[in-house]
Amino acid sequence: MLKQFTTCLSVAILITSCKSSDKPTTEAPTTKKEEVMHIIDPHSFAKTNDAVVKHLSWKANVDFATKTIQAEAVWTIEKKTNADKVIFDTRDLTIRQVTVNGGQTATYHLADTVSGQSFMGQALTVDIDSTVKTVTINYTTSPGAAALQWLNAQQTKDKKHPFLFTQSQAILCRTWIPTQDGPGTRFTFDATVQVPVGMMALMSAENPQQTATDGIYHFKMEQPIPSYLMSLAVGDLGFQSVGTETGVYAEKSFVAACAEELSDMQTMLEKAEQLYGKYQWGRYDVIVLPPSFPFGGMENPRITFATPTIIAGDKSLVALVAHELAHSWSGNLVTNATWNDFWLNEGFTVYFENRIMEAVYGKDYADMLQVLEYDGLVETVKDFGETNPDTHLKLKLEGRDPDEGVSDIAYNKGAFFLRLLESKVGRAKWDIFINAYFTSNAFKVMTTEAFVEYLNANLIAPNKAAYADVDINAWIYGPGIPSNITKPVSVRFDLVDAQVKKFNEGAAANTLVTTNWTTHEWLRFIYQLPDNTSLEKMGALDKQFKFTGTGNCEIADAWYELAIKAKYTAAYAEMDEFLNSVGRRKFLMPLYKAMINTGQGELAKSIYAKARPGYHYVAQNSLDELVGTK
Ligand code: BES
Ligand code: ZN
Repeated sequence: MLKQFTTCLSVAILITSCKSSDKPTTEAPTTKKEEVMHIIDPHSFAKTNDAVVKHLSWKANVDFATKTIQAEAVWTIEKKTNADKVIFDTRDLTIRQVTVNGGQTATYHLADTVSGQSFMGQALTVDIDSTVKTVTINYTTSPGAAALQWLNAQQTKDKKHPFLFTQSQAILCRTWIPTQDGPGTRFTFDATVQVPVGMMALMSAENPQQTATDGIYHFKMEQPIPSYLMSLAVGDLGFQSVGTETGVYAEKSFVAACAEELSDMQTMLEKAEQLYGKYQWGRYDVIVLPPSFPFGGMENPRITFATPTIIAGDKSLVALVAHELAHSWSGNLVTNATWNDFWLNEGFTVYFENRIMEAVYGKDYADMLQVLEYDGLVETVKDFGETNPDTHLKLKLEGRDPDEGVSDIAYNKGAFFLRLLESKVGRAKWDIFINAYFTSNAFKVMTTEAFVEYLNANLIAPNKAAYADVDINAWIYGPGIPSNITKPVSVRFDLVDAQVKKFNEGAAANTLVTTNWTTHEWLRFIYQLPDNTSLEKMGALDKQFKFTGTGNCEIADAWYELAIKAKYTAAYAEMDEFLNSVGRRKFLMPLYKAMINTGQGELAKSIYAKARPGYHYVAQNSLDELVGTK
C-alpha cells in the first residue's frame, strides 16, 4: 500500500519557438536569450498568447445559508495580439453580468460543456476591442462547486460556526473564480471578502491574525501566482505564532495543540533557506483544517492548508509541513508549465522535503522516509504495470482529468531521479546547481523539456564523465523504474525488520523489542507483515500494541489495510469509524481498494454510502469510480 495517491492525467503540450511572444517564458541561460516558448495547456480553454490576465480584484460574499459565493471578479488583461476575445475557464458558475473598462456592457458567450470532459467546465469568451483594459464578471458559484467544501457547525470541532475551505489544484479554481486556469499563467490579486460576523477568512495572501468585528477582510498578494494556488478558508479560527515568520491557524480549541505539534516550523523555514535560497513569500503560516480535507497538505502561498491527521501528539508526521514548505520554491516559485510536467513540482518537492527533514531531524530519520518512498514507488509501478505510460515522469494527460496524474511516479520516481543526479557529482556541486535553478527561474514556468535543456547545459555538460552512464531520457520519457536507481537503506528499519522476522518465526508479540519506535518504524513493521497473517497473530499484536482505534491516522490506516486483507474482523468497527471521520484520500483509497480486492465489496459499498456525504468532491470523485456508486 504505502503512498498510493490514486490515479493519473494527460496534458499534451506543444512547444514552439516563438520570438514575438513573451509569455509564458522559460529561459535556459545558455540558450539564446530571446528564445521563448509558447506553451499550449490542454486543460485550459484560455488562449493566453492572445489575451492574458495580469491582476485580479475580487469582491466576494460568502453565504453559508445558500452554500454559494456571490462575487465580482475584475480582471486586468494584457493583449498580446490584436485579439478580439479574451477567454476564461469556468465550471458550474452562474454568470450574472459581464462588463468591460469598469461598466461598459460586453458581449460574451458561455460555451457548452464538451461531452465526456465535464472536468474542463465551460469556456467563457468575452469580446474585446483595442480599448479594453479590464473585464468585470459578476457571478455566483454553485452549491456543489468542486473546489468548495461547506461544513455545517456540527462537522467542526468547536461546533459553533460553519466552515468553508477551497482546494483549487489541479483545475478546480474555475469552479469558484472565472480564471485562466492553467499553471502557466500567473497574476497578482487583491480581494475584499465578506463573511458572517464572528468568523475569520484567510487567503493565499497577507492574512489577518484576528477576527474582524464586521466580518470584512481585505487581502493582497503582490507576487504573481497561478490560479491553482488560489485559496480561501473561512471558519471560527484562532492564530498562534510559532516563530518570527511562522504561525498556525486552527479552530480555537485546537490551535494550541497544533502550534505545539508544529513548533519546528521556523527551524524548517530557516534550514530550507540555507539550502536553496531566500523564502520569497513573506510569512509562512499553516492552517490545520477539519478532517474532511482531501489531501495531506496543499501549498497555498503564505498559508499551507493541512489535514488534522498530522497532529499525532509526538511531532512524528511533520514531514508534511516540510513538503508544503518546500513547494514555496519547487512549484510556487518555479512552476510546472502544464499538468504533464507535474513531476517538476512534486519530484523536486519530495527531494527538497527530505533534505529539510535531514537538516532538522538527522540522516537516520530522512533515510526511513526514503525507504517508505521507495517501497511506495515499487508498489505503484507494480500496480500500474511496468510498461504503462503513466509510469513516465513526463505524462500525457490530454483529454483526461489531471487528477489522474497524481501518483507516486511524479513524487517518488521524480525524487529518486534527482537523487541519482546528485550522487554523480556530489552534494556540494548539486546544491549550487539547484540554487541557481531556483534563482534563475523564479516566478517562471518550467516545461520538462526546458528543464532537460537547463540540466544538460548547467550540470551534465560541465561534468560529462560523471554522467556518462545516466540515461536521462529513460528516466523521463521511459516506463517503470530504471535499474540504476539507488535503493535507499535505513539502519533503523533494519532493526524493525529483525523484529518482524522474529515474530513471523513464532516469537510472541510481547517479546518484540520496540523501544523508542516512532510512527515510521511502526509503519514499516505493519507493512512488512504478510497479508495472510493469521487471526491469532493479528489478535496478539493488537493486544500488545493497541493498533485498532489508535489516534495516529498513519498507523491506523496501515493497520486497517492489513486487517482487511487478513479478514481480521475485530478491527472492522473501528475501521468503519475511521472511514467516517477522516476524508484524506490517501487513507481512503487503499482501504476501499483492499475491501474490493478481497471479495468484501459489499462492505465497501455500505461504509461508503454512509461516509460519502462527509467527503470532499475530490475524494468522492475518486471513490465513486472505485466503489462503483456512479
Ligand atoms: N500539491 C499537493 C496536493 C495536490 C496534488 C492536490 C495534485 C491536487 C492535485 C501537495 O503538495 C501534496 O503533495 N500533498 C501530499 C503531501 C505528502 C506528499 C507529504 C498529500 O496530500 O498527501
Ligand atoms: Zn506536493
